[in-house]
Amino acid sequence: MTSALHAETPALSADHARPGDSARARLTRLLDHDSLVELGSQRRHQAASFGLDRRRPDSDGVIAGTGTVDGRPVDVYAQDRRVLGGSLGEAHADKIVRTIDEAVRGRVPVVGINDSGGARIQEGVAALDGYGRVFSANVRASGHVPQIALVLGPCAGGATYSPALMDFVVMTDEATMFLTGPRVVKAVTGEDVDARALGGPEVHGGRSGVAHFVAADDEAAFAICRDLLSYLPSSSSDAAPVAPARPPVDVDLRAIVPGDDRQPYDVRDVIAGIVDGGSLLEVQAGWARNLVIGFSRIDGRTVGIVANQAAWLAGVLDLQAAEKGARFVRFCDAFGIPLVVLVDVPGFLPGTAQEGNGVIRKGAKLLHAFASATVPRVTVVLRKAFGGSYIVMNSRSLGADAVLAWPDAELAVMGAEGAADIIFRRQLDERPDDRDDLIAGYRRDAMHVDLAAQRGSVDEIIAPERTREVLVGLLRSLRGRPPGFVHDNLPQ
Ligand code: HXC
Repeated sequence: MTSALHAETPALSADHARPGDSARARLTRLLDHDSLVELGSQRRHQAASFGLDRRRPDSDGVIAGTGTVDGRPVDVYAQDRRVLGGSLGEAHADKIVRTIDEAVRGRVPVVGINDSGGARIQEGVAALDGYGRVFSANVRASGHVPQIALVLGPCAGGATYSPALMDFVVMTDEATMFLTGPRVVKAVTGEDVDARALGGPEVHGGRSGVAHFVAADDEAAFAICRDLLSYLPSSSSDAAPVAPARPPVDVDLRAIVPGDDRQPYDVRDVIAGIVDGGSLLEVQAGWARNLVIGFSRIDGRTVGIVANQAAWLAGVLDLQAAEKGARFVRFCDAFGIPLVVLVDVPGFLPGTAQEGNGVIRKGAKLLHAFASATVPRVTVVLRKAFGGSYIVMNSRSLGADAVLAWPDAELAVMGAEGAADIIFRRQLDERPDDRDDLIAGYRRDAMHVDLAAQRGSVDEIIAPERTREVLVGLLRSLRGRPPGFVHDNLPQ
């Protein structure tokens, strides 16, 4: 049944008295015109306690079905906050589980609109089990079909964990996400906090990393969702859509990256000078900003970009950046998307906070993600690659298909100053004035890119302006493994 034919039934009117868009209207705006086909619109819960026998709205507060985005099939569901608070009971859960399972069977992405107070309190354990079944369905689908969660209102409990199990979370400026709301926080901990400060877009877009995208409003969230889908294959059994190749932005790559390796620059300007149309759909742009990740196209084909951001914390790797990179690499690997890795990294951030919070464990996730990835992966060292961070950033030794480097790049165990202070310590104690010469000597004899190229750690030293053409040539030749399921996309 199409949306155009489906008038909202009188049975819904009491629960639809609240302001805001209906779930059906939202799906209609997300999907191609007139493409929504609903399933389960007559479904109602069978619960009777706490007055629910007098409130049995059609659809049970969630619209489910299938439609198309840019002509490609997508399975969808949308919770309706105006119906029983969008809360999830047994019937509501059945509809979501069915949609996700159907997406896996049909090999199409699933997009869920979340706008819900979580498990329906009146339905008790049946509601909790409902969320358990939704989570299981999310996990069953993981790595088989892309899963995108749009969070368009206040979401609590299970309405946050289901998105967290999906591949991407798009949150609007009006949305909030928390396991327990401000009232429970106050009762349990005494902390006074409002919903936005507890789980608003600043929290999840900037500090927790839960939201991959923050959108101004519903319309902007739908646009991000459509854009994201345009880069992704419909399933792990399919190839990503191919677009007409476009030239990158015309920039002087040499001028963007300063010779002095302590000078910052925005690596997104380098990306713009390499990828089709200069466009990057940046993922988690506000979180762990020292690592830029996102989707672009090179030669019309989707690539995942992973790049150290010299403009933020000097591009150092830390535990958040490692986690951010690891899950993105795992997603790209699950869905056959080649990786292009742009390296300019001084090392891992040192200190008690990093060690105590598990930088070893989190860094290991990024190592594991790159080393196990079977998609084509090409690294370009722009300026420097030091120590453990050199290895982690898709080095040859981790199995990169090719490592390129710009002519002034430096690869070493650490920066020249630190290295000279350690290996020439006795000499410097006696003749401190030699320090500059010793540093220059170390730079020449131990860090120069020629040395890495001679021993095969770098496959080719290329002029910056040739970066795109070399990547195009390599990516054409690196076909990757045949499509098919390889692994899930475990939340990090
Ligand atoms: C039943 C619910 C509900 C719920 C909201 N409503 N949440 N009904 N079960 N979980 C109903 C309200 O009773 C109200 O109904 C209507 O929805 C709107 O709610 P308001 O509170 O007026 O809206 P708002 O001020 O916007 O606040 C939204 C909210 C808040 C922050 C989501 O409603 C809230 O905190 N709800 C409870 C959250 C919660 O603890 N959920 C259970 C989590 S456990 P009327 O009839 O008055 O219009 C869970 C299990 C999985 O989800 C856990 C995994 C970790």
